[in-house]
Amino acid sequence: MDDQDIIEQIATIKEDLGEQLIILTHHYQRKEIVDVGHYRGDSLGLSQKAAVDKDARFIVFCGVHFMAESAEILSQPYQTVQIPDLKAGCPMADMADINNVNKAWEEVASITGEGSVMPIVYMNSDADIKAFCGRHGGAVCTSSNTPVAFNWGFSQREKIFFFPDQHLGRNTGHQIGIEAEKMILWDPKKPLGGNTRESINKAKVILWDGYCHVHTRFRVEHVLEMRKEYPEAKIVVHPECTQEVVELADAAGSTSFIVKYVENAPPDTTIIIGTEINLINRLALENPDKTVLDLQYSLCPNMFKINPKNLLWALENIGQANVITMPEDIKTDARMALDRMLALA
Ligand code: 13P
Ligand code: SF4
Repeated sequence: MDDQDIIEQIATIKEDLGEQLIILTHHYQRKEIVDVGHYRGDSLGLSQKAAVDKDARFIVFCGVHFMAESAEILSQPYQTVQIPDLKAGCPMADMADINNVNKAWEEVASITGEGSVMPIVYMNSDADIKAFCGRHGGAVCTSSNTPVAFNWGFSQREKIFFFPDQHLGRNTGHQIGIEAEKMILWDPKKPLGGNTRESINKAKVILWDGYCHVHTRFRVEHVLEMRKEYPEAKIVVHPECTQEVVELADAAGSTSFIVKYVENAPPDTTIIIGTEINLINRLALENPDKTVLDLQYSLCPNMFKINPKNLLWALENIGQANVITMPEDIKTDARMALDRMLALA
């Protein structure tokens, strides 16, 4: 079957299933996938959609595993969530493992007292980390509402323990006015995360030592080179980039923020973007009146695992293949943390 046949078969199944089916696609998906989806968005928008869409029986999620897991947690018991490739994971989410997180939490609590620390967990995490967060009174956040989640956390407790993206955490802390010396990094391989009792007591934000390999590819020299070559251009990046890169950019925000930034820019603007390449290429195609360039080529190989062939396979096995499941207790506790996020959003 060639690609065109596959797309036609997908269209036929979509038509047959009608409102029973919803295909959710993340902004980083390749164009052929976004084109056949019902709804595209950032991770906040997609989880909101999964929470409110009560008509569809079948949700097929074209994104990475933690996103499909969140959709499953927020969906109704009669709905199934499938992902076309179960191996489409997120290496950053894997950097926070529940045993290490529990150990770190106990170590910090033994120094500061548990009541003074609020866990905030990035959407890019496994369900058991979200469940841990829910059990300890915390909330999930995405890159579009991290400052809101941090301010909410500080309204109740003295410190925030943020998992797993150190860069998003640091950029957010900086944005809401936390001094650099009050943000410490927690390396789970070292005793006390590589900190002293004193630095833990003084800290306002504890950052788990995780990062996204797609966004840490962007470096200061890339920004400086592009500024030199295109002095009139605007540079916009995702907040998973390092603080140095974010500070040199004109703006930083979630994938939906980047989409709106390009759409709202005046015609003839040149916009240089530091995020996943599939989104940038699509924005270039969809905004022919502007020049859209990448800060540097960077592809998320996991997002790219979803393709028309495995999407068709998921649709042919609707409600059966690659269905996301998890233990009920994890689901209940993770839902508490996700519900807090939705309430804040
Ligand atoms: P958004 O929440 O901005 O969609 O980003 C998700 C992600 O995985 C970025 O790498
Ligand atoms: Fe994970 Fe980075 Fe890919 Fe986003 S871009 S899914 S954070 S690896």
